[in-house]
Amino acid sequence: MNKEVISEIKRLKEETGTLILAHTYQAPEIIELADITGDSFALAKKSLSAGAKRVIMCGVRFMAESVKILSPDTEVILPEPDATCPMAEMISPERVRRYKEENPEAVVVAYINTTAALKAECDVCVTSSSALKIVEQLDAPEILFIPDKNLGSFVKEHFPDKNIVLWDGYCPVHAQITEEDILKAKKEHPEALLAVHPECSKDVVKHSDMAGSTAEIIDFALKSDKPVIIGTERGVADYLIPKHPEKKFYHLCPDKLVCRDMKYTTPESILKALRNEGGEKIRLPEELIRKAKHSIDEMLRLG
Ligand code: 13P
Ligand code: SF4
Repeated sequence: MNKEVISEIKRLKEETGTLILAHTYQAPEIIELADITGDSFALAKKSLSAGAKRVIMCGVRFMAESVKILSPDTEVILPEPDATCPMAEMISPERVRRYKEENPEAVVVAYINTTAALKAECDVCVTSSSALKIVEQLDAPEILFIPDKNLGSFVKEHFPDKNIVLWDGYCPVHAQITEEDILKAKKEHPEALLAVHPECSKDVVKHSDMAGSTAEIIDFALKSDKPVIIGTERGVADYLIPKHPEKKFYHLCPDKLVCRDMKYTTPESILKALRNEGGEKIRLPEELIRKAKHSIDEMLRLG
């Protein structure tokens, strides 16, 4: 890492009162620079309590939008404007509106990996760590779960009595893991437990010893007496392995489990954002913020 860039980031961060947030999937050098790291739920919650005037969100666009929605008076910068989550746009706001018109009794649950425009059309957001707790509390004749069919079917299996309709979206990173990948990893590490993200397919999740969010996988791995295969974006194992040399963690398919968008952020792009020379300041219409905030507030209330 360029030492001058790092010390300039630290100096400017102090001088301008800027908070750097980073999702755990970010590259290790970004994690090191961050004030707060975590999964989607932790970042949304902690950004709210931090009360910073300016935030640099190292992650993808929907994460920066979520911070802006929760704290509209905060200047929120996405250092790499092209960093988006492909799943976040796998259903359009118009389609959700039409669904609600056709099914007025239905409650629409949006995974937090959705655009602000989609959140504005939904009733409640969930993250992978809060989905079960929140859906359990919903009492509706029909629940439309968007956009991730894999997280949706994970939730549906837990609540067979609820009428949960799934959308056909998916995370292109987690969804490419196959049952064969799992069987191969288990054969290579027969002594290890397997932890996976519920964005993986049903055929993968069924072989796991636990399925949960980034934070839950980390917690499970740290508490485990046995070695653990980390079945999620490789950033999680990249974070755990050097931090805990006393434990045994294995990557699952490290060449496949890479979210390119999450890796766009560099120390240089953070520095440019701090100097107001790069990145994108998130701007959302007031009415959109008001409507989208309702579904995130509901998530924080129920989650
Ligand atoms: P969590 O951080 O909520 O586990 O979500 C994983 C993810 O894919 C984020 O984009
Ligand atoms: Fe989106 Fe998947 Fe990347 Fe997460 S890992 S940001 S869900 S593409």
